[in-house]
Amino acid sequence: MTDEDKNEMVVTPWEVKGKVDYERLIQEFGTQPLTEELLQKLAKHTDGLHLQLARKLFYSHRDLDVVLDLYEKGTKFVLYTGRGPSGPVHIGHLVPWIFTKHLQEKFETRLYFQMTDDEKFVIEDDAKLAENTRFGYENALDLVALGFKPEDTFIIYDVQDIDLLYDIALEVAKRITYSTAKATFGFQDSTNLGWIFWPAIQAVPCFLHKKLTGENVPALIPAAIDQDPFWRITRDIAQKLGYYKPAQIHCRFLPGLGIGGKMSASEPETAIFTVDQPDIVKRKVWNAFTGGKGTLAEQKKYGGDPEVCTIFQYFLYLFEEDDKKLSERKRRCIAGEIMCGECKTELTGRLNKFLAEHQKKREKAKDIVKRFHIKR
Ligand code: TYM
Repeated sequence: MTDEDKNEMVVTPWEVKGKVDYERLIQEFGTQPLTEELLQKLAKHTDGLHLQLARKLFYSHRDLDVVLDLYEKGTKFVLYTGRGPSGPVHIGHLVPWIFTKHLQEKFETRLYFQMTDDEKFVIEDDAKLAENTRFGYENALDLVALGFKPEDTFIIYDVQDIDLLYDIALEVAKRITYSTAKATFGFQDSTNLGWIFWPAIQAVPCFLHKKLTGENVPALIPAAIDQDPFWRITRDIAQKLGYYKPAQIHCRFLPGLGIGGKMSASEPETAIFTVDQPDIVKRKVWNAFTGGKGTLAEQKKYGGDPEVCTIFQYFLYLFEEDDKKLSERKRRCIAGEIMCGECKTELTGRLNKFLAEHQKKREKAKDIVKRFHIKR
């Protein structure tokens, strides 16, 4: 295998490999870039741009313009996002949820949140269904801890709530051929049947609102770009079933602390989990890949490279809202005025402060999480 093969980009809902070329994904998936004009249209309703938009973490969409046009003419929308619970939540997962909460507040709209314990069971060889279900509950605590409104947030636990989903899943599944599913998801002869049917289940919350309320409105889905293949097939059949095509707003991946790649639970030493304790965070950050040089003397002389530094990405996307302070950090790094140890110590402090607060809220969430469970 050549180095080029090894670095070949693969982005599917179940696997992300190689260096991710986000612009190429826009081309290959057929999504649209978020233009300045569209951002301004959104900002009219949100009192300015959320940090994740201003810093271009969210960067692509499908039909966001259509949803905003409808909204301006009086048709609301619902939000939909989710999680495949197979372990603890990391701060990468929080990225689309934090943004979803912002949209929920600004547009005063409902959120349907799908906890796909069934998905993780069918796709992972050694998964145990009861474990995935248990993580569904654990991960819901993280969602609730972020401060979503209970009256407007509806968590669907797939295995428990399948009766609510099944009729729509059948309508969807009947209209998608195996050849479309194979081309979209790369299914093979060895793929199990559960997995092949499963994408119909992820489509359901796009349409569920009508069944529950009688109101036909579009769904807007904030998620990382890896989930887009689901929406391609769902959009193809939406209108045949009498629904709006679901719209999306896609983010890039928050990187892990290692060289290249997204933050991923399968690489725990380079992921920061919401349940991590301060000493663990310190260790992980201390071992992170930075843009620093081999020795302090070299770094003082030649400076560091914030573009490739994982630590800098966390300030950029999450922890430094002040543009001036961010560019000053960048300038000092390039000029060799600031060493990696200093940035690591600061990031550890920021992360641990955030996590301490989150963990407190997560404990409190245990008392109220039931209120978020979708009702019939
Ligand atoms: P899952 O559990 O793989 O991921 C949950 C959400 O987190 C996003 N994500 C990331 N975002 C930023 N940086 C990262 N490093 C990162 N890693 C993961 C994912 O894109 C996702 O939005 N099949 C889904 C569950 C699901 C869902 C949905 C997700 C069901 N319905 C609707 C989004 C929207 C899954 O396994 O997500």
